[in-house]
Amino acid sequence: MQQQEPTSARRSLVLGIETSCDETAAAVVARDPSGGGQVLSSLVRTQWEKHRPFGGVVPEIAARAHVDCLDILIGEALREAGVGLSDLSAVAATTGPGLIGGLIVGAITGKALALARGLPFIAVHHLEAHALTVGLTEGIAPPYLLLLVSGGHTQLLIVRGVGDYQRLGTTIDDALGEAFDKTAKLLDLGFPGGPAVENAARSGRADRFDLPRPMMGREELHFSFAGLKTAVRRAAEKLAPLSTQDVCDIAASFEAAVATSVADRCARAMDVAAVRLGPDLPLRFVVAGGVAANQKLRGDLERLCVSKGFSFHAPPLALCGDNAAMIAWAGAERLARGLVDPLHASVRPRWPLDNQAAPAIGAGVKA
Ligand code: KG4
Ligand code: ZN
Repeated sequence: MQQQEPTSARRSLVLGIETSCDETAAAVVARDPSGGGQVLSSLVRTQWEKHRPFGGVVPEIAARAHVDCLDILIGEALREAGVGLSDLSAVAATTGPGLIGGLIVGAITGKALALARGLPFIAVHHLEAHALTVGLTEGIAPPYLLLLVSGGHTQLLIVRGVGDYQRLGTTIDDALGEAFDKTAKLLDLGFPGGPAVENAARSGRADRFDLPRPMMGREELHFSFAGLKTAVRRAAEKLAPLSTQDVCDIAASFEAAVATSVADRCARAMDVAAVRLGPDLPLRFVVAGGVAANQKLRGDLERLCVSKGFSFHAPPLALCGDNAAMIAWAGAERLARGLVDPLHASVRPRWPLDNQAAPAIGAGVKA
């Protein structure tokens, strides 16, 4: 990272590029000097059809698919925003964490545009982009308590400022989105799993199966979903072959177990955050990442916030999952603070948001 003269006194226009997983995305956002943001365009092309036959994301296919459409998408994002490359203040691309092939495609494209136009390049941390999205959509500035729930990560963090994150807890095995995806696969609901499970759960009875609520009441603020996944498999195997109603009831019972466990962890985190933030700061809770689109989770967390005296914030559904508006916005926030990167900045498939956090013990811990 390099430090340049902060540009916070000027309106900036940033092109964002996202290619860390199975969505190719390009967007243009504007940031005004007072810190307000505006999405001028935000295009996302999913690759689900390409990965569906394999039941999950195939890294090699993902990287090739990004190559196929990224340049076209960038052109469309600029056109829709009504700006040209010469109007831009900077180019921001996700450089980690994520699948290395896709990260390389996005980073190289962003760097090439920055080099050709003499623009600053900003290497964006994908999770930081999820973390800061409410700044773009609601004007919410740190500090706040954040629950980050995506396909690869499940973390509770105190967001103290741009680039300043304190991790309170993480998953010790599967990420929450991964648990949704695996449950969907087991129930033959297709890919991507989160929306499919949510959809089936709408027609299901959540009290039919008594599934475990992992980590309930535990002092450390970690999550675990592997045991729940096994319990879901056992319930499904016991009933096989499953009727449509069985599938919906298992999905609803799974969603309820997840929401109860996550709300318990968040309740504890709110107590910790209230102490750490002190009495003079507003108590704000943000949920972000792909799983933040889940209505049951959003509803339960919003009710929890009311009971704990926190305000509740979440991006609109279109900006919960991977998108490039959040990358452009994280880039604009960094640019305003003079935080830009050299063109030799490397991609980082693994990149903890809080690199001071003690390693968590568990089978598949994700930093
Ligand atoms: O943030 P995201 O788009 O990509 C990553 O950075 O991982 O999150 C994707 C994850 C997937 O596991 C997907 O199944 C899950 O978010 N997801 C949902 C819902 N929509 C997406 N999970 C539960 N309910 C949903 N409505
Ligand atoms: Zn994501």
